[in-house]
Amino acid sequence: MAISIKSEEEIELMRDSGRLASEVLDFITPYVTPGTTTEELDRLCHNYMVDVQKVIPAPLNYAPPGYKPFPKSICTSVNHQICHGIPGGKKLKDGDILNIDVTVIKNGYHGDTSRMFCVGKPSIAAKRLVNVAYEAMWEGIRVVKPGAFLGDVGHTIQRFAEKHNYSVVREFCGHGIGKKFHEPPQVLHYGSTGTGTVLKKGMTFTIEPMINLGKRDVKEMPDGWTIVTKDRSLSAQWEHTILVTENGYEVMTISDHSPDKEKVFPIK
Ligand code: MF3
Ligand code: CO
Ligand code: CO
Repeated sequence: MAISIKSEEEIELMRDSGRLASEVLDFITPYVTPGTTTEELDRLCHNYMVDVQKVIPAPLNYAPPGYKPFPKSICTSVNHQICHGIPGGKKLKDGDILNIDVTVIKNGYHGDTSRMFCVGKPSIAAKRLVNVAYEAMWEGIRVVKPGAFLGDVGHTIQRFAEKHNYSVVREFCGHGIGKKFHEPPQVLHYGSTGTGTVLKKGMTFTIEPMINLGKRDVKEMPDGWTIVTKDRSLSAQWEHTILVTENGYEVMTISDHSPDKEKVFPIK
């Protein structure tokens, strides 16, 4: 399947979907507290998406080939969970870090974004990881412009993460997005400059690096979805949906309370 180029009308719809996905993260932020379960976060997000925003939560019953349907409306990945964590009954505790990944469908178009959250007071090591993962995503985003290679994006992210002595997950990547949740191209978060897809104006894809404090190796849990670090080290991920513009990029998943481009969790 070829990489789709979005028309001006489609881009307008994707801006809507992107902002709505980010607004779900704004909405849920005050509820991420010690003692809350990820199932409760899922319930709150589900109701907000369906009743207030009138969007479809894309993860719910999503079943790519070889997977059973995803049972919840958001992904919540806590501590050593890398991605695709299924919300459940376990309570968040002081010092946990977690990723909440939201994908909405509005007017047939997807918006996909995730952020890290700190529960109570996480360790300095945890905050450093979260901040470097955030910067790594932005390092990759800033490379995007017509004529750049996807390999340039991956290389930049990998070099940045490894400079901080962290590792980059290889098994999961960013993806084209639009009418479908996951479209071509695959957006690797590692690689070599001057390789891979050449970016063109009107392409839309996600950048969503998964950065581990320890080794890069992953393991799938018996639930068939949750991915964890094999060495049980902490992992952090941030995600934005990006449009290639005439001169560079536009981040489509921005809302009023998107984190600042500066350090997100100050280490004092
Ligand atoms: N939102 C994830 C991504 O960034 C995909 C989640 S698939 C699900 O690509 F089924 F687990 F929701
Ligand atoms: Co994604
Ligand atoms: Co996502």
